[in-house]
Order: sequence, then structure tokens, then C-alpha cells
Amino acid sequence: MKFINYMKRIKIILAFVSITIVAIVFESCGGKREPNYTYMPDMAYSRAFEAYDSNNLKNENINYIPYPVEGTIRRGDLFPYPLPNDSNGYKMSAQIKDPLPPLDTIQMAEAQRLFNINCAICHGPKLDAQGPLSTGGKIPAVANLTLKQYVEMPVGTMFHVVTYGKNNMGSYASQLTREQRWMVIQYVKSQQLKGSAASDSTKSSGTAAKDSTTIKK
Ligand code: HEC
Repeated sequence: MKFINYMKRIKIILAFVSITIVAIVFESCGGKREPNYTYMPDMAYSRAFEAYDSNNLKNENINYIPYPVEGTIRRGDLFPYPLPNDSNGYKMSAQIKDPLPPLDTIQMAEAQRLFNINCAICHGPKLDAQGPLSTGGKIPAVANLTLKQYVEMPVGTMFHVVTYGKNNMGSYASQLTREQRWMVIQYVKSQQLKGSAASDSTKSSGTAAKDSTTIKK
């Protein structure tokens, strides 16, 4: 009897030992979060790069490059815009003329495409500030470009704003070439004219018809 008791104890001890061994084996295989011995740390731990970290955003060489490199001209692009990004530059921009000839139908379709990609998320495809970022509340105070003050806004001022950004609107200088920016503005102007012609004709007065014919020129 004593011998049997002794065997039982040994069995219990063996059971414990084997459970411990299994646990250790599983632990050492399963715990892959931390490598055991790292002789090339760069391979085990990648260097974290926080893309939206404010320090990284400040360093224009690393991540987001809002402006093209100063003094460079992209092959085939127009000459640099001369006015500085300050309040005086904004005022003077009204004098800047559109260097492009009026767009033909194919170029206008391209300008519309560029507008829909770059601008419509805020300003909306109809220019009425009904883009998803605006209606969703992500970007407050988006300009409704169908309003009189923007219909009357000189093209140079629009170019200035698209080049440098303004308040909640960012710069498009590195996304769109100068030529593309002017194209987008011609598109905006053409849509604004369509809009004002349409609203004139709803007034159903004699002058409205005259207005829309003058606009067609
Ligand atoms: C992220 C949202 C956003 C996008 C995208 C955007 N805008 Fe704007 N835009 C704004 C906001 C907000 C304002 C109002 C700025 C202010 O006056 O405070 C504005 C203002 C303007 C104005 C009036 C500027 C003035 O001086 O009052 C024009 C013109 C304009 N945008 C054109 C464009 C064009 C063209 C594009 C595409 C290339 C574009 N925007 C893309 C948000 C945006």
C-alpha cells in the first residue's frame, strides 16, 4: 500500500512538472511580441514615424511639402507667381491677370476634373460650399463661391488663395502646377457665370435676358 501511495505522489509531481514544461514551451513559442536576442535592432524594431506629428509637419523636408522647392520651375510650367504670402500680396493679387488663353472644351473638362478632385470636397461640385468636408463639419466656414463677393472676386486673388491657402483652406501649390491652378480658376469663373446667368433668368425680367446674352460673349 505504501508503495502505491508513493507512486501516486510521483505521478502527481510528474503531472505538475509536465504542465510547467508545456507552459514554458508554449510561452517561449507564443511570445513573439518581443524577440529574444536582438543583434540587429533596426530589423526587430522599425523606427516609428508619426506622419501627422506637429514636429514632422513643421519639417518640410520629411513629410508634407506644401510648397514646391523655392526657386525651382517644373518643366513646362509657367514662371513663378511674384507676390508674397502676406496681406499686401493678397491686396495686389487683384492686378494679376490670367496668363492662359480661354480653355477649349477638352481643357475645360480637365479643369472640371481637377476642381472635383481638389476643391469639391469642401466647396462642393456646385461651388455652394456643400462638399462633404463642409457639410460634415470637418472644415468650418468654407466659402460659398456662388455668392456675389466671390463671383466678383478677381481671378488674381483666387490664384493667390489657391497658391498660398487662406485660414482653413490649404495651399495647392504642390498639388497643382501653376497652369492647373489657372485652369481650375477658369472653371470656377465659368461655373459662377453660369450660376449668375441662371439666377438672373429666374427673375423673369426683360433685363435678365439681356444679361445672359451679354454673358454668353
Ligand atoms: C479643405 C477644404 C477646402 C478645399 C479642399 C478648398 N478650399 Fe477654398 N476655401 C476653403 C475655406 C474654409 C475658405 C474660406 C477661407 C476664409 O476666407 O477664411 C475657402 C475660400 C476660397 C476662396 C475665396 C478666397 C478669399 O480670398 O476669400 C476661393 C476662391 C477658393 N476657396 C477656391 C478654392 C479652389 C479653387 C480650391 C481647389 C483648388 C479650393 N478652394 C479648395 C476651404 C477649402
